[in-house]
Amino acid sequence: MTTTAHDPGAPSADNPGRADIRARTLRRDRWWLAPLVNALGLATFVVYATIRSFWGSAYYVPQYHYLSPFYSPCFSASCVPGSSHFGTFLPEFPPWIPLALLSLPFLLGFRLTCYYYRKSYYRAFWMSPPACAVSEPHGKYTGETRFPLILQNAHRYFFYFAFLISLINTYDMVVAFRSDAPDGTERFGIGLGNLILLVNVIGLWLYTLSCHSCRHITGGRLKHFSKHPVRYKVWTGVSALNTRHMLFAWITIGTLILTDLYIMLVASGTISDLRIVN
Ligand code: FES
Repeated sequence: MTTTAHDPGAPSADNPGRADIRARTLRRDRWWLAPLVNALGLATFVVYATIRSFWGSAYYVPQYHYLSPFYSPCFSASCVPGSSHFGTFLPEFPPWIPLALLSLPFLLGFRLTCYYYRKSYYRAFWMSPPACAVSEPHGKYTGETRFPLILQNAHRYFFYFAFLISLINTYDMVVAFRSDAPDGTERFGIGLGNLILLVNVIGLWLYTLSCHSCRHITGGRLKHFSKHPVRYKVWTGVSALNTRHMLFAWITIGTLILTDLYIMLVASGTISDLRIVN
């Protein structure tokens, strides 16, 4: 007796295969709205962040120690005095090199390989597919199994760097509570800039800790949660945050732009910082 190999994807009585539908989609709702909004939001952030990262000025307010997150950490001898919280061990940069050269590639990699952003920009820009039940324009699908998309698997490593940079952003936020007094000393102070920096740092931590890789790092590869009660507790917290990861991804896009914009306006003298405690 001979047997034939069964192809689970082949049409059969139980699995008749795909319906022969010529229309791109049968959806009647505004399925194109979400990818359109995503494309506009992501493009706005990329354009703004690129321009500001190469701007090279108005990123630090010496009087209140406000440092833009697009310039942190600033390690170059070109950084304005006071903005290098961890020293200047790099030489002067020509104007076409961003001052946050050491952090920007990792932050970019972290967001580019983020599970949520992947979904978002695959839909918005690649249209692969643009929405559920809407066919994509591409004839072939290789997923993330080949170069360059196989690099998406590096997300976990970008997470480690992003965690470190979130610590640095937290330090920047804390030192900004010191402001210069008229007699040349430093004193405690709170301005609107402090509150904006604080909200931004909280958002960055929520986004970073809600990462899918963080969830796996805290609770993955365990056979028995009962034997690891601390990791189980942490994993439970990260899992709760993880359900809001998309929200945090968008909130931090907004807070990063807002923080940098506010600091740019104060640093350039366009507006004054609204002081609450001097
Ligand atoms: Fe989005 Fe890791 S930052 S999944």
